Amino acid sequence: MKIGFIGLGIMGGPMALNLLKNGVPLNVYNRTKEKAGEHIKKGAIFLDTPKELAKESNIIILMLSNSNALSNILEGNFGLLEGLKSEKIIINMSTIEPDFSVALYKKIKLKSPSSSFLEAPVIGSKIPAKEGSLIILASGDKTAFEFSLRYFNMMGKRALYLGDIPKASYLKIINNQIMGITMGALAEGLNLSKKIGLDENVVYDIVNSGAFANPMFQLKGKNIIENNYEANFPYKHMQKDLDFAVKLSGEFKAFSPLTSAINNSYILGYDKFKDEDMCAIYKSLTFNLS
Ligand SMILES: NC(=O)c1ccc[n+]([C@@H]2O[C@H](COP(=O)([O-])OP(=O)(O)OC[C@H]3O[C@@H](n4cnc5c(N)ncnc54)[C@H](OP(=O)(O)O)[C@@H]3O)[C@@H](O)[C@H]2O)c1
Repeated sequence: MKIGFIGLGIMGGPMALNLLKNGVPLNVYNRTKEKAGEHIKKGAIFLDTPKELAKESNIIILMLSNSNALSNILEGNFGLLEGLKSEKIIINMSTIEPDFSVALYKKIKLKSPSSSFLEAPVIGSKIPAKEGSLIILASGDKTAFEFSLRYFNMMGKRALYLGDIPKASYLKIINNQIMGITMGALAEGLNLSKKIGLDENVVYDIVNSGAFANPMFQLKGKNIIENNYEANFPYKHMQKDLDFAVKLSGEFKAFSPLTSAINNSYILGYDKFKDEDMCAIYKSLTFNLS
């Protein structure tokens, strides 16, 4: 069984390494070939196009930025769909719009009716991706999920089957909706304390001792105090996911004023901070309002 992995970024890079660590024969493709250096050293075969990778692999995993990147990989020159023959399993682990995921499922079935498709977005960032402790949310063909479970278990600590597409996308977006609002709350609290002149270390200590202390406050609060904005979960991806949450709230008529407000704050600092970590929303507040 040969796995093909496309997208060796912050998340895909270490996830693919975990498959290699477990002895899985791996084909890889990434737009920027240099990012595959460690994978090649550890035995992966780099294929020059997604089409070639699709031909040479039984299961194809995609971990890309967004739907634009997926369109490029699937339908661009020498794209994955061109190389798709019978009985492949395609697993998209990127976070994308639920509608796009449904459209992707239909396109794959049209091109290759005997192939299966799963959407399997992940919860957890750079460190869980390295440690193989992601939470994987999956929807789509159940038999394909059961077949792929052993590979999910190499990349994650938990894999959950949720039924039809796009249920996994919905849950992933709601998770990030809550995370984005929480991130915004921490950034605003720290920004106000700074303006007042409170000692940020005392604020951090107290906030993390109270009833709503949580691991995200601990990690992101520490990074903000230490002025560390290296991307674990990039700002641009958080804004993308908040946009999805705003759209879903509209579609399902769920009043979500906080989601819109935090999304607008992310949009304000987008051009300046898009490639930094999502906690740069703190700098965005300072930058825009001082
Ligand atoms: N980082 C996290 O903490 C985290 C956590 C959970 C879920 N996610 C989700 O996982 C996905 C990947 O995130 P990431 O943090 O790994 O992103 P990333 O580091 O920005 O990597 C993105 C990947 O997509 C490729 N790509 C981007 N645009 C492309 C295009 N137009 N054509 C072909 N390839 C393209 C990149 O190729 P190059 O290397 O050539 O740029 C890279 O392989 C996103 O959907 C994100 O929302 C991320």
